[in-house]
Amino acid sequence: MKDRGASRGAVWLIGDPVSHSLSPLLHNAAFKKVGLPWDYVPLRLLKGQVGPFLRILRHGRTMGINVTVPHKEAAARWVDRKSPLAQSSGAVNCIRVRGGRLEGYNTDGTGFIEALEREADYSARGKRIAILGAGGAARGISFALAEFRPASIVVLNRTPARGRKLARDLKRRFRNLDVAGVPMGEWVRDVDLLVQTTSVGLDGRSHLRFPFDRLKPSALVADVIYRPRRTPFLRDASRWGLRTLGGWAMFLYQAAESFRIWTGMEPPVGLMRRKLLRALTA
Ligand code: ATR
Repeated sequence: MKDRGASRGAVWLIGDPVSHSLSPLLHNAAFKKVGLPWDYVPLRLLKGQVGPFLRILRHGRTMGINVTVPHKEAAARWVDRKSPLAQSSGAVNCIRVRGGRLEGYNTDGTGFIEALEREADYSARGKRIAILGAGGAARGISFALAEFRPASIVVLNRTPARGRKLARDLKRRFRNLDVAGVPMGEWVRDVDLLVQTTSVGLDGRSHLRFPFDRLKPSALVADVIYRPRRTPFLRDASRWGLRTLGGWAMFLYQAAESFRIWTGMEPPVGLMRRKLLRALTA
């Protein structure tokens, strides 16, 4: 293979599935725009392959890694050090490789907050929040939201024990937070902010049914799934007259934050936003 210079680098996206991700489109455009000769490459990994893969990546030209479904919690166990949000949430979706060491971050949480602020002009302070799901995405998002002193957080999860565990971990870190983990379908009311973090809908067909009449009429409903741009879940919410925020916004700002972490440079967010929205409307 031709050696294209010492500064050539690679960033990997590991997950399962990864083939339909728009991350390569965004990051490769951003690297090119700022003049970095780096390649962003998706790689499908099965459970059990994450540890060995991360071990061999310490050396070589890997600058960073994005981690997606379902490996975010496994990745948190394999990195050498973690940012405060990665540490408290127990989920890592972004890794910087430096001097053979792996530094784990959670840009889902920070990206979600930036999306709320910049695309919906919304603050979580004092709000009653409901989170659907208790996986890696729910962890990053709920810990980031808890920093804003919401009135309460309820985690609704199909496997109740996993939801209760997330609620317990939140309580341990935020002692004054009103937080509970309940089974999916349990009664919640007067919700200001509903965040759909489950993987239901990733296939582009299935979607969770939710009793949207339990939300305040002023509520904001956010989905972390970004394709299609208006997911069936968000279309249901719109039918109830509720405001919605598509997963594209969190996806964009988590990518921008990952880019900052790997490169130390300000990402071309305008370009990334245009590329993303164009790909989603194509
Ligand atoms: P991610 O890192 O994207 O959060 P994950 O850690 O695999 O992915 O978590 C997936 C989430 O979607 C979990 O909350 C999961 O619920 P369980 O804890 O009960 O597995 C939820 N989920 C997946 N399929 C689901 C389904 N058919 N109905 C309801 N929830 C589902």
